Amino acid sequence: MFKARLEFADEAAFELLVEEGETLAQAALRQDAPLRSDCLSGECGACLARCAQGDSLTGARAPIVSTEEAAEGLVATCCTRLRGDATLQLEYPLAPRPSEPAKLRATLERLEPLCTSVTRLVLRLEDGCEFAFQPGQYIRLRPPGLRAARAYSIASTPADMPFVTLLIRHVEGGEVTRWMTERAEPGDRLVVQAPLGGFAVDTRAARQVFLAGGTGLAPILAMIAAQEGDTSPKLLCFGCAAPEHLFLHDHLRELESRVPGLEVRIALIEGANGPIRPGHALALLASEDLSPDTAFHLCGPPAMIEAARTALRGAGIPPEKIRAERFLASA
Ligand SMILES: Cc1cc2nc3c(=O)[nH]c(=O)nc-3n(C[C@H](O)[C@H](O)[C@H](O)COP(=O)(O)OP(=O)(O)OC[C@H]3O[C@@H](n4cnc5c(N)ncnc54)[C@H](O)[C@@H]3O)c2cc1C
Ligand code: FES
Repeated sequence: MFKARLEFADEAAFELLVEEGETLAQAALRQDAPLRSDCLSGECGACLARCAQGDSLTGARAPIVSTEEAAEGLVATCCTRLRGDATLQLEYPLAPRPSEPAKLRATLERLEPLCTSVTRLVLRLEDGCEFAFQPGQYIRLRPPGLRAARAYSIASTPADMPFVTLLIRHVEGGEVTRWMTERAEPGDRLVVQAPLGGFAVDTRAARQVFLAGGTGLAPILAMIAAQEGDTSPKLLCFGCAAPEHLFLHDHLRELESRVPGLEVRIALIEGANGPIRPGHALALLASEDLSPDTAFHLCGPPAMIEAARTALRGAGIPPEKIRAERFLASA
């Protein structure tokens, strides 16, 4: 039996007892410990933790963790076993603790196309199905008549309950996409599993920077909206492919004028003009933004996360100041 000390972002700690051969996530589920997980197959990123004592760990690198991240001590605890005692750092606080993930029922309240490739879904949880979550977390959604369930970040805040807002990109040939664009109607009843995930805002940093690619904006909107009363400096860099794929532009400008300390920069890969700059979200960062007392929060497709992480590490940002949610297609 080994001991894993779990250290949370609010400096709380928990001691997990791990049997030889079981993964950290299995041990946590067995002991009802506050270590988050979801897919248990290394693909969703819900269970990520950082460990400095590489010698105490064993197990294959999870698909969600890049070689570089693994070299810097990032592990998926659902793929990691122990061969000695270890200390693991988690990016989320222990308190307030979200509800245990559960299967819940919801009704589709509204369905709003935001641009040619993104639809906003507003769900209303049925009575008795509300859950406690932290901005940054996601749900797993199963539409009526579909066997498939897919992960979607929550774009609304806990204060918006019983409503839950999602921003969903249309993926050609995708099952949920087909339901959403061809059959979905207000009143549809859905099954959601929630809350899930370990992506959380770093409230201890002097400045928060958010990099969102496409619908990667969803959890970041929740993180910013939940901190509206907080005046510490925040920068949101939002990138889309082209003008017809840009969404919530007016909402972001309104948020910028309402939230003190928030600056919003927008980029388009093609068709940029005026204050919208050409390139990816990453290109919106200036050298003065790259300060080690800043926490960087990245969300979007894995290729975007990888490019941003490499650039930030190259600029001297320490790995523990970079948090990411990757919209891996298979999770
Ligand atoms: C933690 C997490 C949070 C997520 N949050 C969001 C979110 O807030 N908004 C959002 O739009 N998506 C999000 N995703 C992605 C989402 O879960 C689905 O993968 C996506 O919506 C496609 O589902 P589908 O059923 O329409 O397509 P599928 O039936 O899953 O896929 C059809 C085909 O398209 C490919 N494919 C699937 N997804 C993508 C993609 N993103 N890019 C390119 N090809 C793809 C598949 O490999 C397959 O060949 C998240 C993923 C994760 C892991
Ligand atoms: S639970 Fe470990 S990556 Fe999904």
